[in-house]
Amino acid sequence: MLEPFGEEDAKFGFNSELFNGLKKGTSLVEFSSPNIAKKFHAGHLRSTIIGNFIANLKESLGNRVIRMNYLGDWGMQFGLLGAGFEQFGSQEKLNVNPLQHLFDVYVQVNKEAEHNETVQVAAREFFRKLERQDSQATSLWQQFREITVKEYRLIYERLGVPFDIYSGESFHQEQAQEVLQCLRNRGLLKTTQRGTGAVDLSEEGDMSSCATVVRSDGTSLYITRDIAAAIDRKEKFHFDEMIYVTDKSQQNHFQQLFGILRLMGHTWAESCRHVSFGLVRGMSTRKGEVVFLEDVLDEARTRMLHNMHQAKTTKEMDDPGDTAEKVGMSALIVQDFKGALESDYKFDWDRMLQAHGDTGVFLQYTHARLRSLIRSNSVIEAKEFDPALLLEDRSIVILQHLLRFDEVLYQSNRDLQPRHLVNFLTRLSHLVASALRELPVKGSPPDVAQARLRLFSGACSVLASGMRILGIKPVEKM
Ligand code: ARG
Repeated sequence: MLEPFGEEDAKFGFNSELFNGLKKGTSLVEFSSPNIAKKFHAGHLRSTIIGNFIANLKESLGNRVIRMNYLGDWGMQFGLLGAGFEQFGSQEKLNVNPLQHLFDVYVQVNKEAEHNETVQVAAREFFRKLERQDSQATSLWQQFREITVKEYRLIYERLGVPFDIYSGESFHQEQAQEVLQCLRNRGLLKTTQRGTGAVDLSEEGDMSSCATVVRSDGTSLYITRDIAAAIDRKEKFHFDEMIYVTDKSQQNHFQQLFGILRLMGHTWAESCRHVSFGLVRGMSTRKGEVVFLEDVLDEARTRMLHNMHQAKTTKEMDDPGDTAEKVGMSALIVQDFKGALESDYKFDWDRMLQAHGDTGVFLQYTHARLRSLIRSNSVIEAKEFDPALLLEDRSIVILQHLLRFDEVLYQSNRDLQPRHLVNFLTRLSHLVASALRELPVKGSPPDVAQARLRLFSGACSVLASGMRILGIKPVEKM
């Protein structure tokens, strides 16, 4: 029987000579990184799928990959959340729907704090307790963190995005103090008029600005924890490269981070890279503005299922809901990956879910058609075939296109932009669609049928491998 994802196929494009010159090593990819109790916004979704793509790509090219989620789990907002929970929180609600409840408490306490001085005092006091490692405050915070991670794990699982490590800002608050000491010892820390501490980056390229790394009360900031985290990761994981994936509003933050690391003498800062992306406008669901990742996934599934029912394609499927989920996700991913990552784009449910055109639905549809062809011709032994029988332009164009797979992966590895692969797979799908019409397998002489089947099965493997790198799970039937 034809082995659609056999050894040979799976390696197709990956053992190219092009890759001989590529250095292989350990890549640490930090992505997704939502903040506890805050909204999981479109930026976090983009970071999640882009980071997953980069990790998949690095892995498929033979690197060891560490996938890290760096949670926003520290800072003054936990003072507010803690104080808020003591006032409006409920353990019961926390157990039933933790993400929602923490978010509600956070919104409520923020509103309250705007006009209520005592809430602000309570929040500061709670955070001070946390920083002093007061056991009661710490155990509440820990509970928030654990519950959140547990929920997120489930959602990431649903997305098919695995993480090796859930780290977070909280892991590095003590090390942040060591960083400050080190900066002081090296004479890099300047006290400003406001009493804060800053590092002068004017000598580090065009960053004429100063980066504040310590508040006047001695507490650390987001960037201070990032410096500590980077040093800690280098020591623990000996990465050869580290990639951070966030929206472009943090570009300056990462340039400053890398600049400070260089000033501290960490030459490996050269191997750190920030992959930034643009904003998404108008990401909303029928419920309204998106607050949780789950809402987007549910909406994609519901809409896709609706389209499938309308097109009457669900009859043959074992689990239409599951198919709708996978296809809906691929629609989201392809829409997001089509353009340059830095560009902003407008979120559009109807357009992304179109069955024809350059959408994720179209890729899935093509894959399912190819799989169905392969399944229904499983009796044809396709291991041995005569390539000379693939004479038509339609076949040759596909063969030539398939040969470009390695080059596309090579290029993607260089600039970490998924659009090359998306374009390549979309074009492949269009070529396959015409070939399926014009190069029938059924009814052709056996040797021709066999050669064509082999061509389609090669196209199917490359399509599936490419989709998997993008973070899309190819479906069997659609
Ligand atoms: N939690 C941050 C946010 O939501 C993103 C973290 C990015 N990573 C980092 N190492 N700073 O904006």
